[in-house]
Amino acid sequence: MNTQNASNNVTEEIKSKISLSDIVQKYVTWDNKKSNPTRGSYWACCPFHSEKTASFTVDNNKNTYHCFGCNAHGDAFKFLMDKENIDFPEALRRLADISGVNLPEKINYDPVEKQKREIIQNINEEAKKFFINELSKSENATVFDYLIKRGLTKENIEEFEIGVTSRRGELVSHLTSHGYSDKQIFDAGLSAQNDDGEYYERFINRITFPIKDKNGRTVAFGGRDLTNKAPAKYLNSPETILFQKKNIVYNYHNAKKIFANETQLLVCEGYFDCITLSVNGFHKSVATMGTSMSAAQIQLLWQLSNLPILCYDGDKAGVNAANRIIDIIFPILKPGYSMKFIFLPEGMDPDDLLKKHGKNEMDKLISNATPLIDLFWAHFITSSDFGTPEDRANIENQLNKMMDRIENTEVKKQYKLEIRDRLSAYWRSKSFESNRVFFKTSKKKPSAKLLQKFRTNPEEEGISWQNSIFILSLIRCPELVAEFMDEISVIELLDERVIALKENIFKFVIENKVKNEQSILLVNHLKDLGHAGLIEAIERNTNEKIHINLLDDAGIKNTKVKFRNVLNELEKHKLANDLETAKLSYFENATDINERKMYELKRELDDLKNRESQGHKQEPHIEKKFDKWYEENKSRLERKD
Ligand code: UTP
Ligand code: MN
Repeated sequence: MNTQNASNNVTEEIKSKISLSDIVQKYVTWDNKKSNPTRGSYWACCPFHSEKTASFTVDNNKNTYHCFGCNAHGDAFKFLMDKENIDFPEALRRLADISGVNLPEKINYDPVEKQKREIIQNINEEAKKFFINELSKSENATVFDYLIKRGLTKENIEEFEIGVTSRRGELVSHLTSHGYSDKQIFDAGLSAQNDDGEYYERFINRITFPIKDKNGRTVAFGGRDLTNKAPAKYLNSPETILFQKKNIVYNYHNAKKIFANETQLLVCEGYFDCITLSVNGFHKSVATMGTSMSAAQIQLLWQLSNLPILCYDGDKAGVNAANRIIDIIFPILKPGYSMKFIFLPEGMDPDDLLKKHGKNEMDKLISNATPLIDLFWAHFITSSDFGTPEDRANIENQLNKMMDRIENTEVKKQYKLEIRDRLSAYWRSKSFESNRVFFKTSKKKPSAKLLQKFRTNPEEEGISWQNSIFILSLIRCPELVAEFMDEISVIELLDERVIALKENIFKFVIENKVKNEQSILLVNHLKDLGHAGLIEAIERNTNEKIHINLLDDAGIKNTKVKFRNVLNELEKHKLANDLETAKLSYFENATDINERKMYELKRELDDLKNRESQGHKQEPHIEKKFDKWYEENKSRLERKD
């Protein structure tokens, strides 16, 4: 490789300062029997193909690796480039970093290589001009019309330097007349060779899109078929010394002109998508030219924006591609840099979307883009319900394994914290529906943390004061049990522990006709049954609360009045809980049934007098939305009855 030659001294210096085995061992487990570290010889199962016995060896003395199974072979640079999917300059930077070798400011290219590059450059520029000129010819008016029909103006066509190539041989003879040889035209990627070694023109009957490097110089072409008969709709230039697809994104040089940080960088698949986005005002758009994205391309995107937004086609390939990006982006994540994802409607690409639904729809999608962490989460947390501890352990393992691929320790730590939180909330939720909430519109809908707030959680949360005062009343005044028999037996309690305790109180008091002054008997019995801890918690709970000093000296009549208040509080507590659940259901899924349920619970709750402000504090944004809804719809829903 040309750059390698040019920087030979540096690469040799780097290689001399590192042990290849140190670089490789992050990716393999050494076979201790076969390896001989003192001689600098290591063996492992090959990281480039799958195998069960070690046929991959590293020789630290020669600074090379070799696989006898798949013939993978090379040095530290080649290893990193292939393993990390990065280009040579990036591998050079990383290894220079590790070895502590300073890179010279500018690597001087080999003069012969430099000249070769210039020739290829010039040929591509010349071809671009030729294609543009072809499009201006009247015989190609239909092609021009096609572009107009696809929504481009003459100015757009000129801006993106779109051209056409219609007849075989014309470009080559044009280039030959400019003094370029067959071999040079071939090296520039504009001709191909058949089995007999003859050259033939590569692009025929295609619309041409010049692909440019960072500085706007044409290095390759994308060609769209005009006949609908070609096996590939798009044909790109082959890899040349100027064009490696994984190191280039289409329209980069234009996108980089838009500095404004608030301008989102949109990343799409196709040439047309990118151009349509751009001419619709989304000037900071680039295309990856297909669904695969390399680490080097992500690094390029990050030079334009900390948070590029990926809008791949709304088909299976697009969604799979987004998922594959997790694999590629995780190792290179760094603080402050990530990616967001837009999922277009089924079967649509950005070009289709803009034409059918317009710019506003695109804006909407952009503002609802899914963050990487949510894509990651949704990718693993599928609709299966993870019912057993083994299932849950399994998914946790998978998530952790993926997160271990994040090399940056800060980012890795934050990912692990966040995922741990999400998992514990998720396991606790019975319906496991929070997945949907994260995936689609994480901003608008309540987070799992919020959902969790409204779920009772016996292990971690204390007993509510309503439950506490209720139980305490029964323990202190067992006669209340007979007095309020009907109410107590139908009361709906939310806490399993309190339900069991209530049942035992009920049974013992009825069976033994316990009087108020025999309260201590009841307490001892309950403690024997194993409720001691719970009773203590309840006592602690009510000591702190002054809500209802039920058992004052004012006599049993007064006690009864107060106990009725306690029952009211319990009822309210239950209704408030149900209402919270109903609100969440409605704001997630605004059906008539959900709306009615929410309304009825609210009315019932209002009907209970002497409402105190304690108890549930609702999440403000839901509460505000809900109050607004209630005021607006009150009369309408009342009339329905
Ligand atoms: P699509 O097949 O989605 O095409 O390929 P498109 O961009 O929507 O094309 P139109 O709208 O029908 O004209 C998306 C991108 O993938 C690359 C091209 O860069 C293309 O723009 N591609 C696709 C190829 O390189 N080769 C192919 O055969 C197909
Ligand atoms: Mn398209």
